[in-house]
Amino acid sequence: MPVRILAIETSCDETAAAVIDDGRFIRSNVVASQMELHRRYGGVFPEMASRAHVEAIAPVIDAAMTEAKASWDSLRAVAVTKGPGLPGSLVVGVNAAKGICLARDLPLIGVNHLEGHIYAHWLETTESPAPSAPQVRRVLHSETPFPLLALIISGGHTELVLMHNHGRYQLLGHTVDDAVGEAFDKVARLLGLGYPGGPAVQRAAESGDPRRFQFSRPRVSLGARTVRVANDAYMFSFSGAKTHALRLAQEHGGGNGRPLDRALVNDIAASFQDAVTDWLVEKTARAAEAFDVNAVLVGGGVSANKLLREKMRARFGAAVSFPPLYLCTDNAAMIGAAGYYAFLRGVRDDLAMDVAPDLKLGD
Ligand code: KG4
Ligand code: ZN
Repeated sequence: MPVRILAIETSCDETAAAVIDDGRFIRSNVVASQMELHRRYGGVFPEMASRAHVEAIAPVIDAAMTEAKASWDSLRAVAVTKGPGLPGSLVVGVNAAKGICLARDLPLIGVNHLEGHIYAHWLETTESPAPSAPQVRRVLHSETPFPLLALIISGGHTELVLMHNHGRYQLLGHTVDDAVGEAFDKVARLLGLGYPGGPAVQRAAESGDPRRFQFSRPRVSLGARTVRVANDAYMFSFSGAKTHALRLAQEHGGGNGRPLDRALVNDIAASFQDAVTDWLVEKTARAAEAFDVNAVLVGGGVSANKLLREKMRARFGAAVSFPPLYLCTDNAAMIGAAGYYAFLRGVRDDLAMDVAPDLKLGD
């Protein structure tokens, strides 16, 4: 009998549930996206997000159980994201998980969302390696030894984490201002490229010249504040790049809804993306060398970025691991994988567990 876990994730704008066996095998992975709702307003509004979770949560859990052909009796635990995230969104998933645990007398396991992004790399997937890059494979299926280095990059997070063992994390660095996905979203908005910004900036950048504008890089000499950040080996800062993009747009008569020349938009997007991906690769490489890690695990929505993947592969070769795209963005399968290892460690939360919107890794 496998250790079967029902996992629930509602930390931001996806309502997700999954059934995972032995922390590795995905029996079902259901995600109800609120993308369309938030696209209409150009971003995530917490109040709307939590109400959309309320509507979706029961049908999504039901679909996950049905798709997995799992009986309630076959479950050994319920894992749920307890933080970090939007309080009103987290509450919906946590309360659903508690209800199931209470009714079925199952253990409750509260999972850190960031830990989930890391454990996405342990999930068995059917994706075959890209023919154009046969040397790149999923590194963790061969039980790569610790230490491992995780880079978690999304709309809400930019974290560089050293993983010493299952459940043992050391936060090496984080952003001092905007999360990297947030910077992509803001630049897309000021360039009039729409929401979500990452894919839109990537698309515009494909026709742009990344050398037209010089955005700051971690090693170059910058304004007083950024120099400090640049010297702080594993910290990130993206507000400078964002402000630079805004200044360029304004200098050329755009910004605040005024349309810009298409070629200019493409060049700003390309130059911004080139600089930001350099930051990510550079800081990750520094940490990988300093701590002599055996693999680099990249996760979160921004890891979908094509240029970032190319640069990471050029730098780390087969030692860099990217989950398939549907496991990079928020999902419950990754929470089930993390929940399984927590279950093995004996982690059990009681039914009075609160949500932890500001939860850090290592808490
Ligand atoms: O992990 P995720 O789906 O949700 C959370 O924020 O937790 O990440 C979404 C973020 C958004 O900021 C989006 O613009 C960014 O990931 N993103 C990308 C790309 N695809 C999504 N950023 C850069 N390049 C992409 N191709
Ligand atoms: Zn996430």
